[in-house]
Amino acid sequence: MIDMILFGVFPYVAVALAVAVGIYRYCFDRYSYSSQSSQFLESRALFWGSVPWHYAILLVLLAHLLAFLFPAAWGTLLGAPGRLYLLEVSGMVLGVVTCIAMLVLIFRRAANDRVSAVTTRVDWLLLVALLVQVATGVFIAISMRWGGFWYVHTVSPWLWSLVSFSPNVDYLASMPFVVKLHAVNAFFLVALFPFSRLVHVVSIPLAYIARPYQLVVWYRQRKQV
Ligand code: HEM
Repeated sequence: MIDMILFGVFPYVAVALAVAVGIYRYCFDRYSYSSQSSQFLESRALFWGSVPWHYAILLVLLAHLLAFLFPAAWGTLLGAPGRLYLLEVSGMVLGVVTCIAMLVLIFRRAANDRVSAVTTRVDWLLLVALLVQVATGVFIAISMRWGGFWYVHTVSPWLWSLVSFSPNVDYLASMPFVVKLHAVNAFFLVALFPFSRLVHVVSIPLAYIARPYQLVVWYRQRKQV
């Protein structure tokens, strides 16, 4: 029963909340759709936390996504020992980078008075949930070899069963506690998405790549000398 709630019902609730509240917030509070930078208040620790965090987590999530979307091809890719070691070791290194970066970002918000003053309770909740997510991910990668491989026979079919609206929670029900925590916390992050600064994920200013560069011009008449 509890497995059904956690792995068969909660994911839908989380996605529904993310979409519904996300759209509501976009329509009625559009200017809050950002991560509200605190770079003016502190930039050094932000650089060493934020930059590695974003590169590493994007690559880790890309691997999660590819293994979910193309399980057969992913299984073939990991079929040769050389490629398996390369991908697993890269995944672990990236995972450790995400953990260290997350600790830097948490320390920055706790230790710097100016940054801490603009940090909300939801920000703290998000940071802790992200730390739990990456720490459990690395723990799984290190302690339950070879995750990239068994992922395609357990996690992928579970996620596909959710996508096809016929949830099969058996895939996750027999998993160790830490895998269950990693899975539930992932959907907790999805639920947190519309209530937190995570919404900036869908507000990447892609138009900036193609738009003409900004010209700053005098608005008033300059004094003639
Ligand atoms: C918010 C979404 C998620 C984030 C941020 C995340 C993060 C991570 C990180 C940082 C790692 C360690 C790096 C690695 O070895 O690849 C990892 C590994 C792993 N994650 Fe996730 N994860 C997410 C969602 C999920 C979900 C929904 C599942 C399903 C149970 C899952 C299953 C796994 C598995 C099996 C591993 C071990 C992979 C291996 O040994 O190579 N993850 N995750």
